[in-house]
Amino acid sequence: MPLPPLERIPSDVVALADYAPLARERMTDAAWAYLDGGAADEATLADNLAAFRRVRLAGRVLGDFDGANTRVELFGTTFDHPILLAPVALQKLAHPLGELASAQAAAALGAGMVVSTEATATLEAIALAAPTPLWFQLYVQHDRDFTAGLVARAEAAGYRALVVTVDAPVAGMRDRERRASFALPEGVSPVNLEGLRALPPQVSPGPTSLFDGPLPGVAPTWKDIEALVASTHLPVLLKGILRADDARRALDHGVAGLVVSNHGGRTLDTAPATLDALPGVVAAVAERVPVLLDGGIRRGTDVLKALALGARAVLVGRPYVHALAAAGAPGVAHVLHILRSEFEVAMMLAGCATPDRITRDVIWPGS
Ligand code: FNR
Ligand code: LAC
Repeated sequence: MPLPPLERIPSDVVALADYAPLARERMTDAAWAYLDGGAADEATLADNLAAFRRVRLAGRVLGDFDGANTRVELFGTTFDHPILLAPVALQKLAHPLGELASAQAAAALGAGMVVSTEATATLEAIALAAPTPLWFQLYVQHDRDFTAGLVARAEAAGYRALVVTVDAPVAGMRDRERRASFALPEGVSPVNLEGLRALPPQVSPGPTSLFDGPLPGVAPTWKDIEALVASTHLPVLLKGILRADDARRALDHGVAGLVVSNHGGRTLDTAPATLDALPGVVAAVAERVPVLLDGGIRRGTDVLKALALGARAVLVGRPYVHALAAAGAPGVAHVLHILRSEFEVAMMLAGCATPDRITRDVIWPGS
């Protein structure tokens, strides 16, 4: 039986990684496999973290820090720091309060949060729980009218941006999950999708091929992005961009921002680490829209490196859900606090008083 959430955060929890073992003890094997796992051999999952370790920082001494701050501006909102909570589905698997607790923690720490289409609380309830800037992560559904309804609900509830995830038209081959026979437990479901009619049944019975089924005919395309941009007053970001040509195409379709992401290594295994893909996307975008990054952010130095290579902000995924499982909202708030504190220390040691002064110059040449 998994342990209950902690009532107090132990004093030896000082880094994001310290939350993983505490979360493990508080989740079933199947829920853990879903939350922590990646696709196939998990090469991309591992490389996301390894890429940050490969890069060396060139600290600069004796800088002037009068007026130093971590503030960044995104789509007309000023954030206290460039660290957001990534969209993570099904958070009631980790803690009974799920997304509501995460949103409260984000509000307490001045962090933005991207709420998943597959959240286990309604997007309206999450907005009510937290006076923090929220963005809605949209999965374009096979039923486009239902999708438009989700967008209308997010607009009405005060969400400030739409983040369309484009790297997962189909779930990756998540072997760890399948080995653990992951299935949704009682009381945990993607409630924002209630009322969505099921996909039409496969035409031919028996062992089916993905391409013989209904999915290829209903998967989102660039036309959906164009239509979405035209239909909403909210900025539309695409999440899951790794290639320069996709980045340019996104701009041609009117998107307001990009998230360099490989879905935390959960979709196309052996895709590159996000830190390695970032410079190519940043060059293609040429400062026309903000570029964000997620995947493997575990340290304040990781935030610094991502900003140095051109990201405006970063999103953190698994670590905050580990903290959610371990200790609920205080755990998530603690993770945000640790990351922000580490980021400030890294900025100071690297000689950068503000985020816009974090440039490629802080990356040790050749690393
Ligand atoms: C995700 N991610 C994700 N992304 C998305 O756009 N919609 C979603 O519903 C989910 N769901 C989800 C569930 C779980 C359990 C995980 C771990 C991840 C991907 C997420 O937004 C982000 O891209 C990665 O998690 C970032 O990598 P790290 O920080 O986990 O290494
Ligand atoms: C996942 C989906 C929900 O990664 O995005 O589990």
